[in-house]
Amino acid sequence: TNKYAVITIDGPTASGKGTVAHRVAKHLGFHYLDSGALYRLTALMAQRKNISLDDEASIAVLARALPCRFVHGHVMLEDDDVTDDVRAEAIGVAASRIAVLPEVRKALVDLQLSFRNAPGLVADGRDMGSVIFPDASLKIFLTASAEARASRRYKQLIEKGISANMEDLVKDLMERDARDSTRAAAPLKPASGAIILDTSEITAEQAVNQVLEWYAEAQESKPSQ
Ligand code: CDP
Ligand code: CDP
Repeated sequence: TNKYAVITIDGPTASGKGTVAHRVAKHLGFHYLDSGALYRLTALMAQRKNISLDDEASIAVLARALPCRFVHGHVMLEDDDVTDDVRAEAIGVAASRIAVLPEVRKALVDLQLSFRNAPGLVADGRDMGSVIFPDASLKIFLTASAEARASRRYKQLIEKGISANMEDLVKDLMERDARDSTRAAAPLKPASGAIILDTSEITAEQAVNQVLEWYAEAQESKPSQ
């Protein structure tokens, strides 16, 4: 392991992890890891290759050598731009199904660790603070009420011109929360030492400023080496 700073932002779907993590990374000039995208890419690739989402061994093989690249905010799988495809709700559900498989999680560890580069990293997902970067300088657990999260996701989809149904969104969200929280391998829960930030009543900008404030405090209180 290396000692570059890491800020982890974990939490349930549509709590604002991606938005907050991306902006904090930009502000600090840090790298950014969207770990959920790796699970989504693996699920998308399995679907394209007609591999069953229960076939742990075959999916772990795909995950270990994911032919993906992240270029200027675009997600590439082999030579395809799959930026919109991977964000589809159906792929989110498929990602949460393969994310319960321990061999698949193990296969994605080294790729996630490789994002930790100078001067630092902001990583978002479910187990960034608990499993992948337990020595992070700051761990955040973002959360928000199911209603707030469903209406945020709804707004995002409508803005993209994708039709959405609030009832289905709430159902998907609850189903994914339940699967992510109850699985044996790296379940969704606040990492030890994580600060919980409920964003139901605050804007994304306020959440970003709060995280930056906590990071500055963590830097001040760090014993000099
Ligand atoms: O990554 P995650 O699924 O946790 O959430 P996201 O994709 O960042 O989506 C959150 C959406 O809610 C974005 O459209 C944000 O602008 C909005 N939002 C937020 O992130 N934080 C708030 N405190 C309020 C709204
Ligand atoms: O943006 P949203 O929160 O909806 O989803 P995501 O972060 O892209 O993650 C999609 C799915 O991948 C989640 O429902 C989890 O099951 C899984 N995941 C995980 O298990 N561990 C991570 N570090 C990130 C995502």
